Amino acid sequence: MENRENILSWYILSGVDEICGDEPMNVLTDQNKQAVPVNTVNNQNSERPATTLLAQENTAACNSAREICDKAQTLEDLKAMVESFEGCSLKFSANSTVFGHGNPQAEVMIIGEAPGADEDRIGEPFVGRSGHLLDKMLQAVAIRREDCFITNILPWRPPGNRTPTEGEVAVCLPFLQRQIELIKPRILLLLGGSAANAVLGNADSISNMRGHFIDYITASGMNIPALASFHPAFLLRSPAQKSKAWADMMRLQRKLAE
Ligand code: URA
Repeated sequence: MENRENILSWYILSGVDEICGDEPMNVLTDQNKQAVPVNTVNNQNSERPATTLLAQENTAACNSAREICDKAQTLEDLKAMVESFEGCSLKFSANSTVFGHGNPQAEVMIIGEAPGADEDRIGEPFVGRSGHLLDKMLQAVAIRREDCFITNILPWRPPGNRTPTEGEVAVCLPFLQRQIELIKPRILLLLGGSAANAVLGNADSISNMRGHFIDYITASGMNIPALASFHPAFLLRSPAQKSKAWADMMRLQRKLAE
């Protein structure tokens, strides 16, 4: 009995906190996703940088996501397209595809990083501990969650809540960009560094980005002010930073009132 508890706590320490199915599955070997340098295979003296099959597959997946997205004229179309998309391996370890949720005519669109365990189980964004704190942050400035549209840069949970890779973000970004085009919100609220970097296309730190509005220009030329702030999961770990997040929410409220 004690041994079983030890094994379970070892799993949890290793980030294995979710059972995805009855049969064990290796998402990497099952899909033969081995990184093999292809440009240098037959040309040892090549001066071109090595391109891996994985990188090529990733570029192909990004292009395919972009092409698919351009065809989506409604959120329902886009949701169905994301659900049937197989170009991101995260889909195969997740239980649900967590598409954006909320008011399709929202003035405020809230963007987080990726679904966690609760979101993966329930199939909706921000319904776990971070979501409860987000609800309180919105309530504090008299914004109703049901008036917002809430989504993530990734629609699938990374195993063990690990940080998404650049490749995963790049493949899923067209789906997020199309959601923004279809919702046409007045303001974007970007929660955490990953969401802000992905949407704004930079590598700046969240501490630098938060607290002021940055223009986000959509593919069709709409200019939407984006406010970056701390992610609720970070605030749960670092409550001393809540006062800065509070100031950001007040900025959001003032901008909405303009
Ligand atoms: N964290 C996120 O970034 N998104 C969610 O949906 C839940 C937790």
